[in-house]
Amino acid sequence: MSNESLANLLKEERRFEPPAELAAHANVTAEAYEQARADRLGFWAEQARRLSWATEPTETLDWSNPPFAKWFEDGALNVAYNCVDRHVEAGLGDRVAIHFEGEPGDSRSITYAELQRDVAKAANALVELGVQTGDRVAVYMPMIPETVVAMLACARIGAPHSVVFGGFSADALATRIADADARVVITADGGYRRGKPSALKPAVDEAVERSEHVRNVLVVRRTGQEVAWTEGRDVWWHDVVDRQEETHTPEAFPAEHPLFILYTSGTTGKPKGILHTTGGYLTQVSYTHHAVFDLKPESDVYWCTADVGWVTGHSYIVYGPLSNGATQVLYEGTPDTPHQGRWWEIVQKYRVSIFYTAPTAIRACMKWGDAVPAKFDLSSLRVLGSVGEPINPEAWIWYREHIGGGRTPVVDTWWQTETGGIMISPLPGVTSTKPGSAQVPLPGIAATVVDDEAREVPDGSGGYLVLTEPWPSMLRTIWGDDQRYRDTYWSRFEGRYFAGDGAKKDDDGDIWLLGRVDDVMLVSGHNISTTEVESALVSHPKVAEAAVVGATDPQTTQAIVAFVILRGGAEEADGLVEELRAHVAKALGPIAKPKRILPVAELPKTRSGKIMRRLLRDVAENRQMGDVTTLTDTTVMDLIQAKLPSAA
Ligand code: WT7
Repeated sequence: MSNESLANLLKEERRFEPPAELAAHANVTAEAYEQARADRLGFWAEQARRLSWATEPTETLDWSNPPFAKWFEDGALNVAYNCVDRHVEAGLGDRVAIHFEGEPGDSRSITYAELQRDVAKAANALVELGVQTGDRVAVYMPMIPETVVAMLACARIGAPHSVVFGGFSADALATRIADADARVVITADGGYRRGKPSALKPAVDEAVERSEHVRNVLVVRRTGQEVAWTEGRDVWWHDVVDRQEETHTPEAFPAEHPLFILYTSGTTGKPKGILHTTGGYLTQVSYTHHAVFDLKPESDVYWCTADVGWVTGHSYIVYGPLSNGATQVLYEGTPDTPHQGRWWEIVQKYRVSIFYTAPTAIRACMKWGDAVPAKFDLSSLRVLGSVGEPINPEAWIWYREHIGGGRTPVVDTWWQTETGGIMISPLPGVTSTKPGSAQVPLPGIAATVVDDEAREVPDGSGGYLVLTEPWPSMLRTIWGDDQRYRDTYWSRFEGRYFAGDGAKKDDDGDIWLLGRVDDVMLVSGHNISTTEVESALVSHPKVAEAAVVGATDPQTTQAIVAFVILRGGAEEADGLVEELRAHVAKALGPIAKPKRILPVAELPKTRSGKIMRRLLRDVAENRQMGDVTTLTDTTVMDLIQAKLPSAA
């Protein structure tokens, strides 16, 4: 976020008190902060008792070998049992776990008792396919109930899943399958996207062809489209899962048993496999879902619009809500198919009371106009959440007014794939909210803002967001690369976790997030590394060199702008830019497709050969250029600007 918008943000003076009724019955009150401050580990030990443990833990945290944390190490539990079976045992088998809404309009409601049978059958099927405790299973799926079932089945047998977003390319899938050394891939023929079937199986076929150890591909039939079939390797879900026994005895795994790997883009090309484990992760996602959304499982209908391919889907569709026995909506498609009121129609249909989405979606809805949500009955809503990027005050206010009817608290939740669960957020029954700010670390979480020298900044100043104490759902390492884990998160500030985000404390000490400080771009809530896009561009035969920057964009937070040097002889022919954009989309997925590609003669570099992205960002954002003194050749920027009258 630019400095001007930062200054504007901090001029934001509006405050919204929690509704009296909500505050009076809130799951969590101000006392929780006191309790956690007095005894942080005792507080988390108490939250761990939200779960059913086969062996109760006696130790809370082992931090004797930082930055490698162990939480509840001598405890043992089964995640799927906690998310499903125990609710059935408590007599809640008839409660709906998932109201599934397919994009074409098909829908089905699945109770906890049904979910228990589905998960047991899927777990039995995985065992039949030879999946053993510890084996990795890749999941490349649309947003359908089988995806949730597949993840829970993996958890049930202790096989860490690696969910890869269904919008990613075959290349991205292949890299992730290889890095995790997955043995089985669970996928579907396709899913519905923007009114038509969108294939998934071809990307799996391409990826698996290149991987050494994948034995089986388990395929859910969703769209009924034609799929290529490899006998002996590919198996239909309905052939192998449907005929399984309806019961499966869950085994308890140690609290530090790996639960899943989820890849996030790094600043260097290779994606990082973020590893999450069992007991601490489930404790924090369960507690935060209960606290931040004030979930009353017997009466609320919860809906998180994220894709399960992102951490938000893992923590706040699958593990948090289900561990709490929530009833939730799972929607397959896009918000504007077949019309721009689709989401609000779903809220009305299921009387959704808690709604969690991303600022980029809220801004799209704003663009479509106030009249769209006004056509629907949204009076069931009582808490609204936001996640993924800083939410600008205008969007926050619009969300509260036009979706929340001016009544609902809006909780802006800051966290990351790495943190596993929500870290900084208002509490809906406690906090007087400020549009645009995530405000306060949750009870039991220690966060602050520091300057370059790791000194805590005073209120009213900006710097870097750091987490100063380990937390239960923290990543345990980067899969297969402990050193990279240390280097990436724990080396910038001694003994502290550096999140990579800039932040500011206002005069009340509340935290405002200001976006990524490194070279990761944030596009519509997705982290995309400049390096990944650059290497995709350079992999095209006509591109010699590329520099990519994220330019501030009102719609998507940042838009990808690429500067490329063409190879000798390559002509700036018509269609080349389009060809390059398509090339990047094929390599990395459509979300990484650059908005603009500008062929240039030279790139600005320092004497050590580092591309000065800062200057290119100035050009891309139509700003007066900053300091050019460290450039090898200052005329380069003149050339670039001369080349681009529209951008200069
Ligand atoms: C990055 C993490 C957390 C799940 C979705 C993204 C940005 C996330 C907020 C927020 C400001 C936010 C940060 C963070 N971010 N939530 N409420 N306010 N920024 O997970 O892909 O791991 O991205 O998203 O920059 O570091 P992720």
